[in-house]
Parts: sequence; C-alpha cells; structure tokens
Amino acid sequence: MAPPVVYLVFLSLTFMLLLHILDVCMSESHQTEIKCPESCFCSESVDGGLVVRCSDMNLIAVPHGLPNTTRHLYLDNNLLLTIPSDSFIGLPLLFKLDLSHNRLVHLEPGAVRDQADSLSSLYLSFNLLETLDPEAFGDVRAQNNLSHNPWLCDCRLQLAVPQLLFDPSSLAEVVCNTSEPEELGAQGMPFILVAIELDFCTELRSTTDVAMLITMFGWFTMVISYLVNYVRHNQEDAIHHLEYLKSLPNRQGRIEESLTLTTWL
Ligand SMILES: *[C@@H]1O[C@H](CO)[C@@H](O)[C@H](O)[C@H]1NC(C)=O
Ligand SMILES: *[C@@H]1O[C@H](CO)[C@@H](O)[C@H](O)[C@H]1NC(C)=O
Ligand SMILES: *[C@@H]1O[C@H](CO)[C@@H](O)[C@H](O)[C@H]1NC(C)=O
Repeated sequence: MAPPVVYLVFLSLTFMLLLHILDVCMSESHQTEIKCPESCFCSESVDGGLVVRCSDMNLIAVPHGLPNTTRHLYLDNNLLLTIPSDSFIGLPLLFKLDLSHNRLVHLEPGAVRDQADSLSSLYLSFNLLETLDPEAFGDVRAQNNLSHNPWLCDCRLQLAVPQLLFDPSSLAEVVCNTSEPEELGAQGMPFILVAIELDFCTELRSTTDVAMLITMFGWFTMVISYLVNYVRHNQEDAIHHLEYLKSLPNRQGRIEESLTLTTWL
C-alpha cells in the first residue's frame, strides 16, 4: 500500500513546483512588460499606476523610457541641474513628482506642462533655485514645496508667486537669500512675510524714479547755467551797446547845435 501514497505525494509536490515556476515566470514576464528604466525601481502603487523610484542614483538627466502609467516619480537626491521642456511628456497619470535635493538652478518653460491635469504635488526643496519662471509650470495647479532654495526676492519672484499654489507648511522655509533692491532688508526673511508688507516692484519703480529725477535735475542745471551764461554774455554786449548809445546823443547834440547855428546865420 505504501508505493501509491509515495507516488501521490511525489505527484502533488511536482505539481506544486510546476505551479510555482509558472507563477515566477508570469510575474517576471509581467515585470518586463513594465520596462522600468535601468536606474529606477518600479512597483505597483496602491492608488493605481506605478511608483517609480530613481532616488540617489547620481542622475544628471531625467531617465528615458519612464512607463506611461507612472503615478509617483522620485528623482530626489540626484545631480539634476535643469528640467528641460516637456521632460515628462507621455506621463498622463503623473500625480506626485519629487525633484528635491538636486542642483536645480532653472526649470525651462513647459517643464511640467504635460501634467496640467494630473500633477498634484511637486517637490523642489533643497535645490539652487533663485527665481521662478511661471512658464515652467504652464497650467499645472500642483502644490509646490519650494523650501530651502537660495531665493532672490525681487519683483520677478513677486509676480511669479501668485500664479502658483503652495504647500502651506513649506512657505515659512521659502527664505530670501538676497533681495533686489537690497535696501529692503529681505535677506534671511521668509518671502511670504516680506511680500505681504513690501512691494518689490514699487520699490523698483521708485528707485527708477529717483534715477530719473537725478537725470532730470542734471539736465535742468545744465540748461539753467547755459541760460545764465547766455544772459551774462548778452548783458556785457548790452552794456557795450548802451555805452555806444549814450555816446550818440552828444554827437547828435553837436549836430543840432550846428544846425541851429546855420539857421541863425
Ligand atoms: C500606455 O501605453 C500602452 C501601450 O502603448 C497603451 O496601451 C496604454 O493605453 C497607455 N496608457 C496610458 C495611461 O497612456
Ligand atoms: C517640504 O520639503 C521639505 C524638504 O524636502 C520637507 O522637510 C517638508 O516636510 C516639506 N513640506 C511638506 C508640507 O511636505
Ligand atoms: C545665500 O546663499 C549663499 C550661497 O548660496 C550662502 O553662503 C548664504 O549663507 C546664503 N544667505 C542666506 C541669507 O541665506
């Protein structure tokens, strides 16, 4: 009676092994279907789509061939300097984009414009951004975390900021590294606090006004001194002329005298 039992156990074991091999093959073929970029790790996201992690890979550019179902993309802790236009083209589901801890100095116009309908959070903290071009964002209405960048607080930034949404808790960390005009004393202050009280654009306008006043004053002084000189010069001429004229009546008097003399004669 023993052999059939052994046979049965052997058979079921073989069956289980086969199932397991099949399962592994299936999941492997499923993963190759995803085609994750070399420097990234891809996994299914709980909210559908994919989580693509390319953090800490010394990347100097956004990887090519990101899966079109990418929903969360982590590119933090890399060496990215700029985000070219349409860097995330073909990712219609991109919901969260982490670009923090890079060396970004600049986002090109249209950098994330393809994500106008999907992007909800954009992390740009710990980069080297000094200013923002609203064109980079297109119609994207994501919440931005812009903390820990060496912001140059000026009219340009003041005009750009209202066009963006902010992660409210990150705002206190959006600190001015420098300001233009410098006398405003915005250095080291959270931009949101200074921007409420100061108008960087008016200050700019008033400094241009002062420059214009000085220039106008300079011109005015030149014109006045020219006029004064002109009048003084003419006065001398006039005095000469007057002296000449004064000498005239005497001569005329003599002529009249001689005329009366002739009539007398
Ligand atoms: C992704 O690409 C595949 C194949 O090209 C296509 O069938 C699918 O609809 C795309 N998915 C999205 C979300 O665009
Ligand atoms: C903004 O980014 C900084 C640095 O990455 C992080 O410490 C902070 O928690 C972020 N804020 C929010 C609200 O996510
Ligand atoms: C501004 O940035 C420079 C270098 O980027 C840094 O040395 C300096 O401490 C920063 N100043 C402020 C006020 O953040």
